[in-house]
Amino acid sequence: MDQSERDQLRQEVDEVLHGQKQPSEPAGFQQNDYSNIRHVVGVCSGKGGVGKSLVCGILAVELARRGARVGVLDADITGPSIPKMLGLSGQRARGVDDLIVPNRTEGGIEVMSANLVLEHETDPVIWRGPVVAGAIKQFWEDCAWGELDYLLVDMPPGTGDVPLTVFQSLPVEGIVIVSSPQDLVQMVVGKAVNMAGMMNVPVLGLVENMSYVACPHCDEKIYPYGPSRLEETAAALDVEALGQLPIDPALAAACDAGTFERDLPEGLIPNAVEAVVRTAEFYDALRGGEGA
Ligand SMILES: Nc1ncnc2c1ncn2[C@@H]1O[C@H](COP(=O)(O)OP(=O)(O)OP(=O)(O)O)[C@@H](O)[C@H]1O
Ligand SMILES: [Mg+2]
Repeated sequence: MDQSERDQLRQEVDEVLHGQKQPSEPAGFQQNDYSNIRHVVGVCSGKGGVGKSLVCGILAVELARRGARVGVLDADITGPSIPKMLGLSGQRARGVDDLIVPNRTEGGIEVMSANLVLEHETDPVIWRGPVVAGAIKQFWEDCAWGELDYLLVDMPPGTGDVPLTVFQSLPVEGIVIVSSPQDLVQMVVGKAVNMAGMMNVPVLGLVENMSYVACPHCDEKIYPYGPSRLEETAAALDVEALGQLPIDPALAAACDAGTFERDLPEGLIPNAVEAVVRTAEFYDALRGGEGA
């Protein structure tokens, strides 16, 4: 990307953010001849550390276990966590001619992430917004994704440049929003819902992570952050409540060890998986009845 392209992108972002311009229709980036991606779904949150990457990973693994061809575009350029979680730590993406080939997990999930193209995975990414947006463009346009039923986009936290670029430029069919049961959740989730609305991207629903701890000795659920706010928040924002996830040290350990794909228990957030599948079926029907 040269300076004038960067300036133009900056200007577009500023105009949208400051409300001078309605966002254009998505699908601004072009799919290449080596990718046939049928459905794109984003995983977002209003703030950081609530479990987006975890939920993105669960959706990817569950869809792949159902036999779908799944990719994950790690759009968290400065804080990528997908490769480690899915057992690709230390791996590098290959370049073939002008294209980047994503890395494939044990279970067949295709992954592209900044950590797969940096020389060392501890190298910090200290790029400004437009350059980060350029990386997202490359992950879409210059990546040989192959045939995918689903491409899940793991977003960085919040409503900044990257979600804006993804919503504006990729054909996102819907987003799953992740929240935690803490204070201010309604306001924070509201920002993500409103951004999706401004960009005409449907919200598939809300997953509340870290809702409770299951007592290891009995079936009792302990709510360390107080009662769940999932139903209340979902109703107030007029989105679907897609389920709760407990705080589970085994999940955190599997993310850290890169054994997540193998160790993930079945059926943690079935309604969220169903919402993604239903959306894909809806778009397939719109396009003329092919199934994902
Ligand atoms: N339900 C859970 N039980 C146990 N650990 C969890 C749970 N959810 C998330 N974690 C841990 O908390 C940390 C943050 O989760 P995660 O990376 O999914 O959040 P995020 O929203 O993607 O963060 P960021 O905003 O930095 O991208 C990770 O180390 C993850 O393993
Ligand atoms: Mg993350």
